Amino acid sequence: MRGATVPAFLVIGTPGDRRTELFAAACRASGLPEPRVVPWTDVLRATRDPLAGAAAHLDVTDTLVRIDSPGEDANVDALLRGPGNPARVGGGARWYRTFVQALTRIRADAQRRGARLVGDVDDIAVMFDKRLCHARLQAAGVPVPDALPPVDGYAQLRDRMAEAGMRRVFVKPAHGSSASGVIALQTAPGGRIKAVTSAARTPDGYVNSLRVRSYETERDVAHLVDTLAPDGLHVERWFPKAAVNGRVFDLRVVVIAGEPTHAVVRMSRSPMTNLHLGGARGDLEAVRRALGEHGWRRALDVCAQAAACFPGSGMVGVDLMVGIGWREFAVAEVNAFGDLLPRLTGLPGTFAEGLDTYAAQVRAALARPSATPHDAAGSGGPSEDTTARGARTAGTEGERDVSGRDVHEADQGRPVAPMHGEVSACAT
Ligand SMILES: Nc1ncnc2c1ncn2[C@@H]1O[C@H](COP(=O)(O)OP(=O)(O)O)[C@@H](O)[C@H]1O
Ligand SMILES: [Mg+2]
Repeated sequence: MRGATVPAFLVIGTPGDRRTELFAAACRASGLPEPRVVPWTDVLRATRDPLAGAAAHLDVTDTLVRIDSPGEDANVDALLRGPGNPARVGGGARWYRTFVQALTRIRADAQRRGARLVGDVDDIAVMFDKRLCHARLQAAGVPVPDALPPVDGYAQLRDRMAEAGMRRVFVKPAHGSSASGVIALQTAPGGRIKAVTSAARTPDGYVNSLRVRSYETERDVAHLVDTLAPDGLHVERWFPKAAVNGRVFDLRVVVIAGEPTHAVVRMSRSPMTNLHLGGARGDLEAVRRALGEHGWRRALDVCAQAAACFPGSGMVGVDLMVGIGWREFAVAEVNAFGDLLPRLTGLPGTFAEGLDTYAAQVRAALARPSATPHDAAGSGGPSEDTTARGARTAGTEGERDVSGRDVHEADQGRPVAPMHGEVSACAT
């Protein structure tokens, strides 16, 4: 009989990685038992009953099943994408198929055993398909850059761009994360072209590099796009991002139980702000000041609105872009596992003030056990428009991530792959 009174978490994750450790620490701090971890490798190898290894545990506790990122483990990557260099770009279609099948098995097994899933499998599946994610956000009226219809390769990409009158686009692998294979593409009359990306060409194919580079001939760009296209592409208008001291930025906003609770500024000299590509944490206060109170409220409202598109997900990480005029916003994507922001505490005035993203999720899960809460967060009445829009802030240049170690934080967590040779790489 399932009679225990103390709820306990069971985490599908990678034992010993930072996500699992930080979540376990949050459980301990809340007086909960140490979470039981079911490795993704076990889940992916199980043909059925992925939770069988934790059956004894499930029988004696009121269990909350938390699905965490399958990233940062080369064995998991090989099970999802197939064997090969973990740093390679591509393979997203197979990765996605295997991942979604595993999610479905987890859900069925959890249901059968009477355990409660904290997240929502269908939401996760949508968030890991940038085309579906974009469509869902757009249908709900969340500001997103316009997307092109599907493209099957470079020739069609150029046709679609011409039809839409778009000269500058972002080409994203449909199932990518952490900027893997993302291309910031600009074209100009006279055949000029420039593709900025972290994908580095090697004799064995493209690999993720920590260094962003440009391809400036049509042949090279076509080769890259045609290599990525079979796994599915999402193409959208390049949204010109606001800059502070010559660096563009976006915001990673974590929304927990419907409320935007944690935010970081990710600044970069390249069009991709992902922190492992040399992006740095920027000064949130400076960005808030530049947006003005009203603009900041709107920014948080957009994030809450984006999160509300995933009502079964107690936590999402929204990548929010601010336009160059500091008036417009656009959501680049919503991340199912966007909570890896070590030591970042919640925004003052939210329930997560003083709590990191993990502690805040534990609190939310315990407070609202069967919740799909999403009340309109961040819209606490009219706020005074003391706008300082257009102001440029000072003092952020050169500011690096405090630890210098957490460069992969804030992303979805595709595997980190130490690579040999001159291109240091990671697939996150
Ligand atoms: N349409 C766009 N216009 C301008 N910048 C974009 C656009 N889409 C994404 N970016 C930037 O590119 C980076 C990666 O894009 P994102 O959609 O978040 O994919 P990933 O899953 O690889 O992180 C982010 O830093 C984001 O700011
Ligand atoms: Mg992102």
